[in-house]
Amino acid sequence: MTCAAPAAARDLDVAIGKATFDRLWVQAPASTKSADGLGPLYAARSCASCHAGSGGRTTFRLGRDDPAGHPGLVIRFGDASGTPDPTYGAQLQPAGLSGAAGEGRAAVRFDPAAHGMPPRPRWSVEDLGYGALSAETHASPRVAPSLAGIGLLARVSEAEILKREDPDDRNGDGVSGRVARLASGEIGRFGWKASEPTLHAQAAAAFALDLGLSSDLRPDPAGDCTDAQTACRFAPQGSQDGEPEVAPALMAGLVAFLERRPAPPAPATTRGAKTFAAVGCAACHAPSLALDGGGEARAFTDLLLHDMGEDLDDGAGEGAATSREWRTAPLWGLSRALAQGSGLMHDARAGDVAEAVRWHGGEASGARSRFDALPKGERDALVAYVSGL
Ligand code: HEC
Ligand code: HEC
Repeated sequence: MTCAAPAAARDLDVAIGKATFDRLWVQAPASTKSADGLGPLYAARSCASCHAGSGGRTTFRLGRDDPAGHPGLVIRFGDASGTPDPTYGAQLQPAGLSGAAGEGRAAVRFDPAAHGMPPRPRWSVEDLGYGALSAETHASPRVAPSLAGIGLLARVSEAEILKREDPDDRNGDGVSGRVARLASGEIGRFGWKASEPTLHAQAAAAFALDLGLSSDLRPDPAGDCTDAQTACRFAPQGSQDGEPEVAPALMAGLVAFLERRPAPPAPATTRGAKTFAAVGCAACHAPSLALDGGGEARAFTDLLLHDMGEDLDDGAGEGAATSREWRTAPLWGLSRALAQGSGLMHDARAGDVAEAVRWHGGEASGARSRFDALPKGERDALVAYVSGL
């Protein structure tokens, strides 16, 4: 059978998926078996608490909001090669249940402003619950992105991603870009470092790291607890008879729900669009990607990893990405992010598009210089175009 499931069955899946996305999980054991298993260590109680409004971007903005406890701001842990912390695991979980202490809270300081740049953030974790982090571990902040149109990014063909990669910069434009080839052999495309290959894998990682729930791809019910976190290891779990805490039908519904998040509207072609291409923004922020089975994603990303230079290097690698490499951020939906006051870039350090461009270094240095050299009218038109996506 290759034909699609009947529409009514698909709609039911999506409804189950939305309920799963919005569900507030509770501590095990609970009378509501299907909703327990939260933690023991966790960062939030539902997908929707970080991606508000059926999959929105967090409102967090660095410099305005306190990072400790802000919904949708997450701290990853890794050394330069992406190995998690031996005690704290791959991510900070500020909250704990069943006698397991929370791991700590995110904190940030700023370097003094230098060479015309805004003050650079330096991240750390305070009130550590389990002793010191390894000397090799770096705290890598990430904001929860909008999930609008995410199903289209899942359908971009591999050939479409591969054809844009230019790791040795053969065309000499200063922009190389690497495919995120994961240890599994798959191509990574989700997350700020393109470390997850599919929506299913991304959702399983979120259940494990953010909520402390097991699912088919991540069967450990203790989530991100390490062997050094004994109270967490021995706490009651929501899984029984080896079944995952998130039942396969809920996971299938969740993936169907994500696949159907509507994409932001396509932009009109304005003067700013031409300047966007002319200064080389589009070398990474590709205005259109072809989909498997036809159609396009107007997402303004190439889904490749780029070396973004010193100022965006937080010391932590992840998946295929080094600490300086980031996936080209999709720019669709940016008008929504700006309207709700969200900061831009992976740690929300930029208040607007022009400030985001100032942080672009490494492979994007050429585009940034050409942006800076534009006559004011042209630059304003470019900024207005990107701010309206
Ligand atoms: C504690 C906050 C938090 C919770 C809870 C959370 N997310 Fe996320 N989500 C994030 C952050 C932060 C990222 C970016 C992660 C990265 O860069 O690796 C993200 C990324 C994603 C992405 C990839 C987006 C992209 O542009 O590639 C998807 C899909 C996603 N989350 C779905 C979910 C689902 C489904 C759940 C519930 C099972 C969930 N998230 C729960 C914070 C959260
Ligand atoms: C070499 C590739 C590359 C080029 C060229 C490039 N960008 Fe980016 N852009 C990125 C990457 C990678 C990120 C994510 C970096 C991060 O968050 O640390 C990003 C992030 C952004 C963001 C923030 C998006 C968000 O969701 O927070 C904006 C806005 C942006 N770029 C605009 C531009 C504009 C305008 C230009 C041209 C002047 C440009 N970029 C050129 C790679 C590039």
